[in-house]
Amino acid sequence: MTETGFELKAQDGKARTGLLRTPRGDIRTPAFMPVGTAATVKGMLPESVRETGADILLGNTYHLMLRPGAERIARLGGLHQFMNWQRPILTDSGGFQVMSLADLRKLTEEGVTFRSHVDGSKHHLTPEHSMEIQRLLGSDIVMAFDECPALPADRARIEESMRLSMRWALRSREAFGDRPGHMLFGIQQGGLERDLREESARALRDIGFEGYAVGGLAVGEGQEAMFSCLDYAPDMLPEDKPRYLMGVGKPDDIVGAVKRGIDLMDCVLPSRSGRTGQAWTRRGQVNIKNARHADDPRPLDEDCGCPACRSYSRAYLHHVFRSGEMISGMLLTWHNLHYYQELMAGLRTAIFEGTFESFEAAFHEARAERDI
Ligand code: GUN
Ligand code: ZN
Repeated sequence: MTETGFELKAQDGKARTGLLRTPRGDIRTPAFMPVGTAATVKGMLPESVRETGADILLGNTYHLMLRPGAERIARLGGLHQFMNWQRPILTDSGGFQVMSLADLRKLTEEGVTFRSHVDGSKHHLTPEHSMEIQRLLGSDIVMAFDECPALPADRARIEESMRLSMRWALRSREAFGDRPGHMLFGIQQGGLERDLREESARALRDIGFEGYAVGGLAVGEGQEAMFSCLDYAPDMLPEDKPRYLMGVGKPDDIVGAVKRGIDLMDCVLPSRSGRTGQAWTRRGQVNIKNARHADDPRPLDEDCGCPACRSYSRAYLHHVFRSGEMISGMLLTWHNLHYYQELMAGLRTAIFEGTFESFEAAFHEARAERDI
């Protein structure tokens, strides 16, 4: 079976719901992708991640090429087999991670040279090499190789970087080749400059991709500026292809992005904050470290059906966090991923039923109640 494709089922305002089909399974959109950077969603078994409702995971070229190496993963049967996740995997292309994580980076037309943050070894990454690594991993959705500056940045720097990324997008498309059953997504850049976003979108549309990402956001500009950009950026991308907002975000960022026409998102937040004692609930954020939970027999969230809320008290979650027990990060990560996936399911249903506006109002109202 080689079938891939995007089927829009309903639209409410600019918000869309549909199905992204892959040979490894369908992705219900709008979708949130948990991050499995190092071939694991930290603290979770893959079957538990699936139980939270995830249809797809994100993996990282940068981390996996350094450790354990793409060739090794290929010899062991590919990333799905290696990490025991048989459903779709999207892999980021590495350039963005090199710029934020690696040491001694050097950027040229050809690509980027850097030293590993793991052991200091020297590496080179180009669009061609990134496509080869993502092929060896067996990624279902491959991202074009790009780079972007942190914001705020000079317009000249944003423009130069966007144009380089568009030349790399063409090289990515050519190196990707013809791979039935696999998709290549282009990444729009251009910072907060509307004309540069348009130029970038045109370059990507001319090349042609199976999906399009909005990149270069959530890099320090704040929610208001990000939403202003999302008021126009997704509209520049083909309507009949999935649109992916990279690295976003908090629950209210997600609701705002979906409202503006985004179909896919990923973020480390639910898993990372679970390990630092932060829980996300429909009524807002709970800091389980806080002493006020020490004697509290209630669950984290009475309305949540996840294992952490069904079987444990806030007092227990507080205790295991304070004691540095492994189960603390496991339970809070499970809860957070469950909450994120319930939010996505609620958004999909609301869009399908044409009730996005009241869903959004109820979402913000529940968070305003405080007292959690
Ligand atoms: N993750 C978050 N933002 C970006 C981006 O602009 N490009 C890539 N490749 N990954 C990202
Ligand atoms: Zn829960």
